[in-house]
Amino acid sequence: MILRAAIFHTPRNPFRDDDALEVFPDGALLVENGRVAACGDYLEVRAQYPEADVRDMRDGVLLPGFVDAHIHYPQVRALGGIGYSLLDWLENITLPEEVKFGHPSYARAVAQEFLHSLASHGTTAALVFGAHFAGATAELFEQAQASGLRIVSGLVLADRHLLPALYQTPEEAYKESAALIRRFHGAGRLLYAVTPRFALSASEAILEVCATLLAENPGVRFQTHMNESVEEIESVASLFPGASDYLAVYERFGLAQRRSVFAHNVHPAPGELERLAACDSAVAFCPASNAALGSGFFPLQRHVQAGVRFALGTDVGGGTGFGMLKEGLLAYLTQRLAPSPVTLNAAHLLYLATRAGADALGLEDQIGDFTVGKFADFVYLRPPETSPLRAVMRSPISPERLLGAIFTLAGTECIEETCVEGNPVFQAA
Ligand code: GUN
Ligand code: ZN
Repeated sequence: MILRAAIFHTPRNPFRDDDALEVFPDGALLVENGRVAACGDYLEVRAQYPEADVRDMRDGVLLPGFVDAHIHYPQVRALGGIGYSLLDWLENITLPEEVKFGHPSYARAVAQEFLHSLASHGTTAALVFGAHFAGATAELFEQAQASGLRIVSGLVLADRHLLPALYQTPEEAYKESAALIRRFHGAGRLLYAVTPRFALSASEAILEVCATLLAENPGVRFQTHMNESVEEIESVASLFPGASDYLAVYERFGLAQRRSVFAHNVHPAPGELERLAACDSAVAFCPASNAALGSGFFPLQRHVQAGVRFALGTDVGGGTGFGMLKEGLLAYLTQRLAPSPVTLNAAHLLYLATRAGADALGLEDQIGDFTVGKFADFVYLRPPETSPLRAVMRSPISPERLLGAIFTLAGTECIEETCVEGNPVFQAA
C-alpha cells in the first residue's frame, strides 16, 4: 500500500547536519508487512511500484510516530496541579494519587486512559514510569500489549523519603522486578526498564538491586530522574555525602550506560555532561514540566556542545499533557527565553519528538524515521477545514514553514490516525 501525502522526517541529527530534514511535498510511503518499503517522491515511488494500491491522503501530512522519552502512567489524574515546585508537588499532588495504584482495578482504568491518550496525541512509543506496585505495572504492560503501542516501562522502586505505602524492601524490589522482566521484556512490542524513582528515594541497597537487574538481563533499559530542582539536588547531596555530584550516585552502581535515560538534567554540575557523553547515556528534556514546576531552563546548548543525546518527554503529570507537538513548541518558546537562548527550527523540533526519542529508547534501528526497513510507525495529521492550521496550509509557504506551523498550531483535533507497523492504534471518530 502506498500512502500519498506530504511527508516529513529527520533521518539525521539537525544539531549536527544541516540537511537532516527530508521533505516530500507530494510524497509516498510504501508500507509492506508493517515496515517501510520505500519513502520518497510520489511519482518516483509509483513508477517503481506501479501495482501497489494507493491511499490518497493529500489533505494531510505524515510524520513518524512521536516518541515520548519520559512520562508517568500513574499521573494521568494528577495533571493540572499548578502552583507547586517539585518536592511539594510530589508530596501534595502526585504521591497521594500514586498510592491508589495498590488497587488493580483502579490501575487498569488509568492504564487504559493513559494508552488511549498517547495514541490520540500521535505518540507510538514511550518510555514510561510504571507504578510502585507490581500488579499495577503488570496492568500497564497488559493493556499496552492490547493497545499495540510500543511501551518501555518498569516497576518504580523506592525505599525512603516518599510515602511509606509506596516502598518496597530491596528484596521485594528484586523479586518483583525480575518477575516482570521475565513476563514482559521482549514480549511483542514491550520492553522493560529498571526504574528507581530518583536518588532521593533510593537507598544504596535498592540501587545495588538495580545494578544486579541490569547485569542479569542484557537489553533491559534504565530510567530515573536527575538534577531536576535545586532543592532536590541539595537533598541528594546531603543523603550521599561521598558522591561528588548527582550523577556520581548512579555511576557508583554502574547505572549510567548506553541504555540509560536521565529525566530533566536541568542543573548539571561541571563535569557531569562530559561524563554523560562518555557513557553515552541520554537525557529526557521536558520543557512543559520544567516550566510548570519552576525547575528551570534546560541547558540545551551545553548538552549539544558536550555531545549528550537528548529527546523530548512530556513528563505527564509534572508536565501539561500528552501532546508531543505542544512539547516541541514549548521547547522552542522556552529556549528562546533561556539565559543562554537558542533558536530551534522546525527540523530540531521534529527530530527531538521522533528520531531522538527512538535513540533514547535504544530503538534507533527500528523506529523514529522512515528509513527503508524500519517499522512503519506514523501519525497522519489532517487539520479540520476551519482550523487556523488548514488556513496556513492553503497558503503558498515553504515546507519548513509548514512544519513550524504544525508545531505551533496542531492540537488533537488534527490527529486523524496513529499507526504502529502500518496498523491503526487510534482513528479519529
Ligand atoms: N522526581 C521524582 N519523582 C518525580 C516525578 O514523578 N516527576 C518529576 N517531574 N520528577 C520526579
Ligand atoms: Zn518524571
